[in-house]
Amino acid sequence: MDLIQVIRDRRSVRSFRPDPVPEEDIHAMLEAARLAPSGGNAQSHVIGVVTEPRQIEDLARAAGNQAWIAKAPLVFALCAELTTNLAGRDDADFALIVNKKRFGAELIEYLAAFPDQSAVARLFENAAPLIPGQHIVLTAVSRGLQACWVGHLDVTMASLMLGLPQTHACLFLLPVGYPATGRPQPEKKSIEAITFRDRWPASGTNPGSTPGGRPRARPEIARLPLSGFFHGLPNPPG
Ligand SMILES: Cc1cc2nc3c(=O)[nH]c(=O)nc-3n(C[C@H](O)[C@H](O)[C@H](O)COP(=O)(O)O)c2cc1C
Repeated sequence: MDLIQVIRDRRSVRSFRPDPVPEEDIHAMLEAARLAPSGGNAQSHVIGVVTEPRQIEDLARAAGNQAWIAKAPLVFALCAELTTNLAGRDDADFALIVNKKRFGAELIEYLAAFPDQSAVARLFENAAPLIPGQHIVLTAVSRGLQACWVGHLDVTMASLMLGLPQTHACLFLLPVGYPATGRPQPEKKSIEAITFRDRWPASGTNPGSTPGGRPRARPEIARLPLSGFFHGLPNPPG
């Protein structure tokens, strides 16, 4: 099936037939997750494949008692290794430099001094399962299955249910199965409503839902030669 058709057919489905998901499909979804990109190719995602009904029910409880989850024949527990340790890094550390650029040095220094570093690591690893998870979702749809992201989750409780060590946390669930009923596509914004070209429009319709707002003044930047390297990896020849 064409990828755009798979994307069009995807819905957040919360009602599944009881039929088990074939092992071959589980394998295909895990293969898609395995091939996902990750920052610095860190691959800190770890995926629990949960099919035991009691275990699924316990995860539904950890997900704010979302009853529909308990009826899924398969739940992927999207976990991450909590590798981020801001406190233990020296100033030249690449990840520290990047994160200071992204979020501001003040916030990163505050988080580095925060007493519960495992909570900070959880925050930083929150994004780790997102791309592998969406690879799973799209592979599911390509095989006649559907899924629904679950982020309303007591991460500590879910991690305990799964018996994870302190080094890992379960950050999202993905219940998967054959849809019991069809669902219309929920309304999505138009391309125009989510897009701008090159620079934020100075006048006319702005993307997003916040009206107005003057565009930020664009500062002059030093036009130094661009580096051909990223993270020690050379650009491909040519
Ligand atoms: C990160 C994330 C977390 C979500 N968490 C939940 C959840 O806990 N429970 C739920 O029923 N739906 C959850 N959803 C599904 C959204 O409600 C759904 O994607 C949205 O309503 C749009 O519908 P669609 O996915 O069919 O396009 C989540 C979606 C995302 C992307």
